[in-house]
Amino acid sequence: MSTGERVVAFAPGRVNLIGDHTDYTGGFAMPMTVGLGTEASFQPDPSAPAIEVTSSLEGEPGRIPLSIPAQPLELAMVLPEWARYVGAVVAVVRPTSGGKAEVSSDLPVGAGLSSSAALEVALALALGAEETGRELALTCQRAEQLATGVKTGILDQLAIVSGRAGHAMLLDCGTLGVRYVEVPTDELEFVVVDSGVRRSVSETAYGLREAECAEAARLLGPLRHVSPRQVDGIADHVIRRRARHVVSENARVLAFAGMLERAELEEAGRLLDESHRSLAIDFEVSVPELDELVTWLQGLPGVLGARLTGAGFGGCALALARPGVLGRRLGTRRHWVVAPGGGARRC
Ligand code: GLA
Repeated sequence: MSTGERVVAFAPGRVNLIGDHTDYTGGFAMPMTVGLGTEASFQPDPSAPAIEVTSSLEGEPGRIPLSIPAQPLELAMVLPEWARYVGAVVAVVRPTSGGKAEVSSDLPVGAGLSSSAALEVALALALGAEETGRELALTCQRAEQLATGVKTGILDQLAIVSGRAGHAMLLDCGTLGVRYVEVPTDELEFVVVDSGVRRSVSETAYGLREAECAEAARLLGPLRHVSPRQVDGIADHVIRRRARHVVSENARVLAFAGMLERAELEEAGRLLDESHRSLAIDFEVSVPELDELVTWLQGLPGVLGARLTGAGFGGCALALARPGVLGRRLGTRRHWVVAPGGGARRC
């Protein structure tokens, strides 16, 4: 048996500072990568017809044939369930050799820190994906869509491949452009707090929200070019509220980027509060546990703003706080003080 060289790759998780449910409408978002992440290794064995995969987070290993079709229905049959992401990455990267893959991660699953996208990107790199940057992000976005059967956006994968230490990123999800903004880490702290509620995108109304936004765009054109006044003219009150979230959130992202650059942190914090209100009321992607957590965080001294982060329906809240004030208040509640990390890489 001849074996090739073992390849190891790392992909960080990401936290979205502001700009949720804007990416799949070609809008703006401002994430940063975090220190936590996923490592994938691959030991090729050219005589093997499949990839055998284990994960530090999962008991049951998976086995993905190299010929697995790039079809959501076929991928939905893969068991154990977590290996569907592996199947989808194999289907889009098409490695020429089978072998053994190992995944290990310190990212909480389903908490809104993009554990699935980190797995996709780390594994794609370990399996020999040749693309880099935005092409790699697009390949992994396809894997996510195949694995979940949901038309998820580019935010997570683009953030993960683009991360730069010390910086957040203003993502233009229409052009896939990235502008780096330095985070003044001596003046602020980002703290991610777990609501304890877990949902995967396939079990939520994510797909419905995507369809509602597509309907708004059918009526008014690309939402990034739409004004609040045009939104007010939408007759259907549900579509109007969905569009109002997207249009106002895009404006908040652009304003937030400027405030972060100028270290106008009180103002930036207020935008996080507004973002949460918009996601909860107009976009309806919050849950009572998250609303309660966010309201509590917003009331703490030294907290400048807080919001749900990521897809919602559970997962985490993000607080922008003065350094060191929040840790002791959180006690045993699961939380992470996150600093902007680097991007995905082969090790
Ligand atoms: C999930 C999706 C992203 C994005 C966020 C919400 O993380 O994977 O594409 O839509 O939800 O902003």
